[in-house]
Amino acid sequence: MTPHVVELTGVSQRYGDVVALADTNLVIGRGELVAIVGPSGSGKSTMLNIMGTLSRPTSGHVRVDGHAVEELSDRELSALRAGTIGFVFQQFHLTAGIPVLDSVADGLLYSGTPRAKRRRLAETALRRVGLGHRLYHEPHQLSGGEKQRVAIARAVLGDPPLLLADEPTGALDSRSGATVLELLHELNEAGTTVVVITHDRDVAGSLPREVRLKDGRIEHDSTAGRIEHDSTAARELAATASGAER
Ligand SMILES: Nc1ncnc2c1ncn2[C@@H]1O[C@H](COP(=O)(O)OP(=O)(O)OP(=O)(O)O)[C@@H](O)[C@H]1O
Ligand SMILES: [Mg+2]
Repeated sequence: MTPHVVELTGVSQRYGDVVALADTNLVIGRGELVAIVGPSGSGKSTMLNIMGTLSRPTSGHVRVDGHAVEELSDRELSALRAGTIGFVFQQFHLTAGIPVLDSVADGLLYSGTPRAKRRRLAETALRRVGLGHRLYHEPHQLSGGEKQRVAIARAVLGDPPLLLADEPTGALDSRSGATVLELLHELNEAGTTVVVITHDRDVAGSLPREVRLKDGRIEHDSTAGRIEHDSTAARELAATASGAER
């Protein structure tokens, strides 16, 4: 098993004259919990989408879970995404009128898993995020924090090794935000590599590793180049590094 879940090497993303990401190198080890921070427009979402193979960069190399993304067809990429990466976005995409159990189960719609099994897995995922008592609620019957937890349940349904979250607490009050953050910590402790974009300095400061972007470049990385081995070592290293910085 490759120790690195994400490897970006010389990755750039240009949109006409706009350089959204400039010659970026970043390695994320298995079992890490990483905050991506930086001002609006600094390239955070661009970087996360490239890590998540949702977009291919203008130049550079991307490896996800050991696979060289540029060598994969769109079809192979979809399969890699489906089996390896869970996404959580700032806006929860829950369909009105559909019980959350089905919304979550639909996350495996294209995996070929039979409906009964999808619903069983969905129930397990919802229990995992503390929503076992809300399986048949519809989106309008849930609080914002609960909706975001549904989104996380859907993202972790197939137990992907990598969870990417773009401002998952951005639309929440601080208490719901704290619950969602706690959940990300728990998933990480259970072995999931988590990368989370946040505007919240307290959130970022509470995570073992912080990568700061500015104008499409990594301006600061609290554990740059030091994560090489297994998740325990990575976590210990990260904890030491972030402790030493403060
Ligand atoms: N499809 C696109 N076409 C042109 N420019 C784009 C496109 N997508 C992003 N950009 C530009 O690239 C830069 C980086 O955008 P990105 O969405 O990565 O920023 P961000 O750090 O996520 O910001 P925010 O905190 O506001 O979400 C911005 O200047 C943005 O305007
Ligand atoms: Mg963004």
